[in-house]
Amino acid sequence: RRIAVLASSRGSNLQALLDAIVSNRLDGEIVGVFSDKPAAPALQRVPEMLRWSRDAKSYARRGDFDRELGDAVAACSPDWVVCAGYLRILGDAFVERFRGRLLNIHPSLLPKYRGLRTHARALEAGDQEHGTSVHFVIPELDAGAVIAQARVPVHADDSPETLAARVLAREHPLLVAVMRLAVAGRLTECGTTVAVDGHTL
Ligand code: GRF
Repeated sequence: RRIAVLASSRGSNLQALLDAIVSNRLDGEIVGVFSDKPAAPALQRVPEMLRWSRDAKSYARRGDFDRELGDAVAACSPDWVVCAGYLRILGDAFVERFRGRLLNIHPSLLPKYRGLRTHARALEAGDQEHGTSVHFVIPELDAGAVIAQARVPVHADDSPETLAARVLAREHPLLVAVMRLAVAGRLTECGTTVAVDGHTL
């Protein structure tokens, strides 16, 4: 199965997918890595021919960047499109184009803390636990059907950084687990919910 990855930053989630493929834990192929930031370290994790990047800030209209990105993603015929540390909001047209095969990994226990600064917000709220979610992407930010979550405890002396590191360690296996279901054809977006093997969760 063909997997396209959108990434803006470090790319450790992308690396988790690459490692899983190499070690035969994920029966798929990364067919392209797409970034809104040409300097994103994530791009360096794949051969040059698989990289696509444009500086999103240099586009006068958001729609123009999204259309170019969408055309580039579509050109590699992905079965699944995964946002893994993609920090730019996707326009509605892009989302509708890949709807049903577009996933995101988000560092909070959704529906808590959509958007940015999730770790700081969990600490500010005094939460006892925090975590990460993989969900289908819909036009509303971080609001699509949740497929799976992983939880971590919050420690009394946590900073946003220590908490982020604990969450990140759980993001990698969670994303691989979800992608195993996805590439096996077992995962379907079902309105506001998710079906595995045709059974609504
Ligand atoms: C992850 O915490 C991801 O959930 C969030 O941004 C971070 C990116 O990490 N959206 P990486 O680029 O995959 O290392």
